[in-house]
Order: sequence, then structure tokens, then C-alpha cells
Amino acid sequence: MEILERNDPCWCGSGKKYKKCHGAFDEKLKMYESRGILIPSHKIIKNQTQIEKIRKSAEINVAILDYVADHIKAGITTQEIDRWVTEITEKAGAVPAPLHYEGYPKSVCTSVNEQVCHGIPSEDVVLKDGDIINVDVSTILDGYFSDSSRMFCIGEVSEEKRRLVQVTKECVEKGLEQVRPWGFLGDMSQAVYDHAHANGYSVVREIGGHGVGLEFHEDPWVGYIGKAGTGMLLVPGMIFTIEPMINMGGHEIFIDDSDGWTVYTEDGLPSAQWEIMVLVTETGAEVLSW
Ligand code: MF3
Ligand code: CO
Repeated sequence: MEILERNDPCWCGSGKKYKKCHGAFDEKLKMYESRGILIPSHKIIKNQTQIEKIRKSAEINVAILDYVADHIKAGITTQEIDRWVTEITEKAGAVPAPLHYEGYPKSVCTSVNEQVCHGIPSEDVVLKDGDIINVDVSTILDGYFSDSSRMFCIGEVSEEKRRLVQVTKECVEKGLEQVRPWGFLGDMSQAVYDHAHANGYSVVREIGGHGVGLEFHEDPWVGYIGKAGTGMLLVPGMIFTIEPMINMGGHEIFIDDSDGWTVYTEDGLPSAQWEIMVLVTETGAEVLSW
């Protein structure tokens, strides 16, 4: 932690004097750190100006997902979803974050049935009755990032797939209930894990959520195996995603060699994912994108 004098401008960029701004906050962080608790670095703690910018980015992200929700149906291709996302994002004066991210070729991820995540939109993938699909949208507005995803059931979906989609949504809600300032990331992780397992499902281990806002992927890494009372301390101004991938069968996954992106369940059984982007506030949590 950098050493600041009481009258120095605060590290958060508020323009206020350090002592009046994050002075007491840093004392509290140091106290937790001295107890061996993992504390967030200053660079992942957002100030009000940044939060407003990220909020605007998130509004576009939500509007895109609302459009998808209204128009997705059997018979369209996942490439059509990519076209919607690209067009709406451009019209809003924003940029799709996935496009060219580490070489990713499209504007959105579309993951169908046993695809766990990072499915690439294609003219060859036609949505059909009974499919479940995750549409994962991420937006950059004015340099600020937002990220969230939803599941959609196409036409008549089997009861067991519908239940997977529903329970996965509940996992995110249970996780969210645990997000509070001066709580722990593991409080959220355990709530997600417990609800998935109570329903007979498994949780993907290797891929998780992340800090977000100033960059696409920031600290902390957000897994769902952690225990309550462990993991990074949560403090006001942190923004991260809760985006568990819940499998109907085993937790094992693999990445498609041929495209280098699409993640599948090892056993070929369906997987579901919902993603929300959460701001830790002074009193609890605020969902910025869903
Ligand atoms: N949107 C994904 C997430 O939730 C990341 C996708 S990376 C991409 O973190 F390159 F595949 F788009
Ligand atoms: Co994400």
C-alpha cells in the first residue's frame, strides 16, 4: 500500500484529501491484512466517477440482453445473435468486448446445451425446440467494461433442462445474498456451491467470474469452490461478476481443439450459466448488469 500524507490527494482519484477520503478505510484494510486476510488492491476499488461510467456501460449491456430475450427463437442461427449484438452495440456508440479479445472472433458468446461457455456464434448452429442457450454479452463504453449473461429456453424444453436453468439462476441469487462490505468472497462461493450440490448438480472449477470495470478481467478471480469466511475481503467500490457454470452431470470439462474456445462438458450432459455484475456498496450490493 502506498504511503500517503493526510493532505495528499486520495489514491482513489476523488480529488479529496486522503485523510478525509480513504484514510480510515486503509487503516481498516491494514487491520484485516495483519490478521492474514487477503485484501483487495487499490486498483480494483472504483470511485464514484468510475462507477457512473461503468453503470452507463452496463445499461447498454442490459439493453442488448433485453433485445436478445425479445427476439431469440427456434430457427435462428447463433450468428444472427452476433449480428444483433454487434448492431445494437455500435448504435449505442460502444464496442463489443469479446471481439478480438485474445483472438476471439465474434462479438458475443453463445453456448448451447452441453457447451459450458465461450461458444462461438456460427451460421451452422440453428436453434431448435428444446435447446437451452447462454448468451454472454460484454460491452466497452468510453473505455469502461460491463459483462453479464442469461440463459434462454427455446420452445418446449424438457423438465430436467428447465430445472437446471432455474437452479443455476437460484445459485446466482443465493450467491448475491452473501455479498456485503467487509464480508468474504468465499461467503458467496459457498452459497453457490451448496445450492448446486443440494440439487444434485456439479460446479465447474476451472472457469469463474472476475473483477470488471476498468478492464474486462481484473482481480479477483471468482470461483465457487471456496468456503465461507475465506477468500478476498469484499469492500465498497469493488465490482465483480458472479457467473457459475452448473453441470447436470459431472464437473469435468474440455476445450474444443478445433476452435480453441468452446468449452464442453466431458460427459456430454447439459450445462447452464447466468452471470451478473455486482458492485459492493457501503450497505450491501447493487447489481449493475444481469
Ligand atoms: N464474457 C466472458 C466472461 O464472462 C468472457 C468471454 S471471453 C471471450 O468472462 F473472448 F470468449 F469473449
Ligand atoms: Co464474465
